[in-house]
Amino acid sequence: MQSEAVFILAIESSCDDTAAAVLHNDKVLSNVVANQLVHQQYGGVVPELASRAHQQNIVPVIDAALQKAGLKKEQLNAIAFTQGPGLMGSLLVGTSFAKSLSLALNIPLIAVNHMHAHILAHFIDEEGFDKPEFPFLALTISGGHTQIVKVNGFFDMEIIGETTDDAVGEAFDKSAKILGLPYPGGPLIDKHAKLGNPNAYAFTKPKVPGLDFSFSGLKTQILYFIQNNVSKDPEFIEKNMDDICASIQQIIINILMDKLLLAVSETGITQIAIGGGVSANSGIRNTLKAAESKYGWKTFIPKFEYTTDNAAMIGIVGYQKYLEQQFNDNAVVSKARIQF
Ligand code: KG4
Ligand code: ZN
Repeated sequence: MQSEAVFILAIESSCDDTAAAVLHNDKVLSNVVANQLVHQQYGGVVPELASRAHQQNIVPVIDAALQKAGLKKEQLNAIAFTQGPGLMGSLLVGTSFAKSLSLALNIPLIAVNHMHAHILAHFIDEEGFDKPEFPFLALTISGGHTQIVKVNGFFDMEIIGETTDDAVGEAFDKSAKILGLPYPGGPLIDKHAKLGNPNAYAFTKPKVPGLDFSFSGLKTQILYFIQNNVSKDPEFIEKNMDDICASIQQIIINILMDKLLLAVSETGITQIAIGGGVSANSGIRNTLKAAESKYGWKTFIPKFEYTTDNAAMIGIVGYQKYLEQQFNDNAVVSKARIQF
């Protein structure tokens, strides 16, 4: 296996970002993302519009990724793409494109699980970023998932805890919507929270056994809290936006940290990696960093551009699969839900 010079084009189109990246082994040469702004006005991702926007974006995004990498498509060794989980109409665009290109160039096709990719993004070779050693615990927090995963090897992972209802990203986005903030609200809550007092308002943690999570009750709690206060003072939100956001972010951090502490005590594993869009949150990143000295953990916090959906993370899984010659034939299909 000519592992010295493997060039992989990776494509990610599972939700509302059209992304392409080129990797040289485990190094990222280019990482291009086209965000779809069309969804903002609807307060959430509209699947039909996402699929249409992917069709418009995919060729320019892949062209840009190749150009930035300084590579011609004929130099590629394999095409990796997101097989799932995600929105079917969105996945189909990336899958069909990847299949066609692999056929045209006569190079291997590699199907990648999006959730594996959020975790394995930590294996991208980046200056100043350590790679975790197996086994480690991964907290994957995104708009669609909230999981604690025991990662024994590149392709040996076990979900030991997950949400029973909403994902943590939904908790951020739905809270933001209640506050009248546009979609996606997570980054805006983060921004306001930096200026607010996290102890201004006390929300209660849901009681969920074991390592599982629940966020739908928190959303309802926040809704009633806001309705109650706005009925007394119509300007309650505007006057207290920073404190409200800081308090919402704090309760979410507390919920996540409680479960991580439990997972560490149950498994004895103290290497913790976070991944997924919500791992961009500055409060979560700071709390996890602080856990190194507080609890003696070794924590892995991804480079900002590898937190929200991107194709570099698909590429690094593609590279590991390439080394193991885990290729797919052209009959491979997209999967909205996929076995972990
Ligand atoms: O991983 P991702 O890009 O897409 C999914 O696979 O879902 O995650 C998107 C989620 C959204 O819910 C968004 O609000 C949230 O990540 N997010 C954040 C932040 N940046 C993105 N949530 C809190 N704080 C942030 N800074
Ligand atoms: Zn994601």
